[in-house]
Amino acid sequence: MIRKIRSTDSAVILNVINDAAQVYKGAIPPDCWKEPYMTSKELEKELERGVEFYGWFEGDVLAAVMGIQPVKDVTLIRHAYVLTSHQRRGLGEKLLNHLVGLAKTQEIYVETWTAARWAVQFYQKNGFELIPKEGRSKLRRYWTVSDRHAESSVC
Ligand SMILES: CC(C)(COP(=O)(O)OP(=O)(O)OC[C@H]1O[C@@H](n2cnc3c(N)ncnc32)[C@H](O)[C@@H]1OP(=O)(O)O)[C@@H](O)C(=O)NCCC(=O)NCCS
Repeated sequence: MIRKIRSTDSAVILNVINDAAQVYKGAIPPDCWKEPYMTSKELEKELERGVEFYGWFEGDVLAAVMGIQPVKDVTLIRHAYVLTSHQRRGLGEKLLNHLVGLAKTQEIYVETWTAARWAVQFYQKNGFELIPKEGRSKLRRYWTVSDRHAESSVC
């Protein structure tokens, strides 16, 4: 079932993110990879910026997380991660649909690494469209990521 995750439960959020993010190792540019992929400090910052996390729980186990962040006049879907052991069972789709239903704006954006073709496929399968390169720069104002991160990403 889907539940909002309390911001005090950052350890379980990080557990899912840092497990699922292992797939980036060797796929994204080496200077963008680090271990752990997300630190508790970085997660704290994201929570301060207004990212709210929802999770798919199987009993007491948090199997998937996804964040929603209203920014200016749009909504961002952030940090979509499903435990490696639970991927491709529809959990990502369920969480994504839930968050899209919560969005209060018409425009909803997601961003992911260009190299994460599986994630692009996942979003396309769920109705998102890839924005052509020329159109991406005006969306930069919605994300607080480094230039290096942005140039290696699609939205
Ligand atoms: C991307 C992710 C969130 C999708 O969640 P999920 O629960 O695995 O996805 P669903 O089961 O709802 O949907 C499956 C669809 O997503 C795509 N997909 C997911 N994982 C894939 C993979 N490893 N290879 C290819 N396509 C994949 C496919 O379109 C797939 O459909 P198919 O099984 O019919 O081919 C999850 O796989 C994940 O955590 N991946 C690693 C981290 C990541 O890339 N996160 C995205 C950050 S923006």
